[in-house]
Amino acid sequence: MAVDRDIEGAVAVLHAGGLVAFPTETVYGLGADAGNPVAVRKIFETKDRPATHPVIVHLADAVQLASWARDVPEVARKLAKQFWPGPLTLILKRVRSVSDAVTGGQDTVALRVPAHPVAQQLLARFGGGIAAPSANRHGRVSATTADHVRREFGAAVDCVLDGGASQVGIESTIVDLSGATPALLRPGWITAVEIEAALGTRLAVPGADAPRAPGTLAAHYAPRTPLTLAEGDLAIELAASLVRQGKRVAVLARSARQPLLQGLEWMAAPQDAAGYAHALYASLRRLDESGCDAIIVEQPPQAAEWAAINDRLARAATGSSVPDET
Ligand code: TXA
Ligand code: MG
Repeated sequence: MAVDRDIEGAVAVLHAGGLVAFPTETVYGLGADAGNPVAVRKIFETKDRPATHPVIVHLADAVQLASWARDVPEVARKLAKQFWPGPLTLILKRVRSVSDAVTGGQDTVALRVPAHPVAQQLLARFGGGIAAPSANRHGRVSATTADHVRREFGAAVDCVLDGGASQVGIESTIVDLSGATPALLRPGWITAVEIEAALGTRLAVPGADAPRAPGTLAAHYAPRTPLTLAEGDLAIELAASLVRQGKRVAVLARSARQPLLQGLEWMAAPQDAAGYAHALYASLRRLDESGCDAIIVEQPPQAAEWAAINDRLARAATGSSVPDET
């Protein structure tokens, strides 16, 4: 597996039907030529991802929208203009040529123009769409560095482009514009309030008949070590009681003070939401690898700018408790 910043080499791998992991500003993607269903299916095999879970098609610019989506509503152009390139994914009705391997057989396609300069160069040189889910095994913690990707997949990925640590750190906001009312399918760094301000209308909360989005499964983004979310002092009390039972405990702390206890792996998380999101997956990976019996995360505030972080933490807690279902 080549680890490099060689865009031409990566483009050649894509043309040959191979897999290229690449940085985006949200998380790393595991990419294949979106126009090559055989290559796209390799992504699913490599991730152990169920074939019915569609993947996002990454584009160099909004001009390419028309090659992938039909009946593009005015609001899509509005959001694209305001937030692309950036951490926003739009669900639109697909044109017929988009393969079922990409869409999971649905009549819609997810599209995003990422802002990371390496992703931008790759997409511009490749020319077509790059299908890419997050570069992690299905249900597990996403990758925000090239090293995470290497450790997750080893030689199964033909090429890993290293663009440093993903700046945002959590996945894009997903807005479904394929139905009668715009709906938020996955919260992200761009908040629902910002999207609603741009749209001039409220976002619907998706119903039971909404398109499938595995990022919205109750169990996702999960470490292998059981993870518990708890408020401030309760988090510390829980950690202390587990330590007294002879367990080794890792704590991702925000405000609480570190108790002097042996057998406690302590990590102070950034105080601000942007810093917290940026560090979140690397922190979860580190705590997961620390060999502890339990991870305790001190619950962040319930404010709007923490919504996407709280969403990921809640799913990580559920996912870590039901490893066979992720
Ligand atoms: O930030 C991101 O979005 C990252 C980077 C690599 O772009 N990608 C990412 O991909 O998070 P993934 O596959 O982990 O999550 C994409 C989500 C999934 O929940 C998937 O089901 C949903 O997008 N999705 C894709 N196509 C869809 C469609 N046609 N309708 C509804 N949901 C769709
Ligand atoms: Mg994912």
